[in-house]
Amino acid sequence: MIAHTLDDLRRVRESMAGTVAVVPTMGALHEGHRTHMRRARQLADHVIVTVFVNPLQFRPGEDFEAYPRTLEADAAACAEEGVDVVFAPSEAELYPRGRDAVTRVIPGPAGDLFEGASRPGFFTGVLTVVAKLLRLTRAHIATFGEKDYQQLAMVRRMVDDLHLGVHIEAIPTVRESDGLAQSSRNVYLSAAERASALAIPRAIRVAQSSPQPLAAAQKVLEAEPGLRVDYVAVTAPDLEPAPSDGEGRLLIAAFAGSTRLIDNAAVGVG
Ligand code: PAJ
Repeated sequence: MIAHTLDDLRRVRESMAGTVAVVPTMGALHEGHRTHMRRARQLADHVIVTVFVNPLQFRPGEDFEAYPRTLEADAAACAEEGVDVVFAPSEAELYPRGRDAVTRVIPGPAGDLFEGASRPGFFTGVLTVVAKLLRLTRAHIATFGEKDYQQLAMVRRMVDDLHLGVHIEAIPTVRESDGLAQSSRNVYLSAAERASALAIPRAIRVAQSSPQPLAAAQKVLEAEPGLRVDYVAVTAPDLEPAPSDGEGRLLIAAFAGSTRLIDNAAVGVG
């Protein structure tokens, strides 16, 4: 079933006995999201999927208006995966005083790096809506994808810092057969842009078999004229500065045409 209002959600939530897992999404659901639902079902007695294109995490000039909205297909996908309820509120329902008037969750300094540097205010928007969704669903477990590696880290930090008492379950990145990470934004890509975008998973593969993953990834990305790199970096797995040797995380953001894509993977350093 679909709950459109806070009242609908409250009613159905009260009828749930046992544990609840929530899968927060912006809809346009794909196989990556479905993997979250299946894991959520394994972990909890009930599963809630939230579908809300959160205006607070988009800046003017980004794709808030263009973002694909496919609620009917999303609800069908959720039903196929055995989800109990889809919570798909309107903006007025979640931000009754208006999006600019809402109390916000401000991340620590890690929120200003990488995605936060390229998209100022992004993590404030994400954490604010995630805090609301966790509270409204009163979920015991929430799934977040490694695809959005920094988002996963920032949500974990918020849950810890604000003592929210929710278990955050990380879901490995689900890829298309050609290696491109599944994303709701892949529908924006022309055939030529998509071919260029494949340099991203290629850079990851090359980096994973190199002792100098950053230089290796940069070389592959720079050789692809159809890509404009926003950032490429190697950090420690917790997003602290990279170790001189050991495990690292390769983070990539790049534009194919006007579509911004992000990806990341574990790499060895040194
Ligand atoms: P959205 O991009 O719809 O992603 C919803 C969840 O699915 C996130 O946890 C994301 O990391 C995960 N996900 C996306 N693509 C994935 C893939 N290929 N493999 C595995 N997981 C994947 O991320 C958001 O929405 C929003 O910022 C949100 C958290 C809902 C707050 O508005």
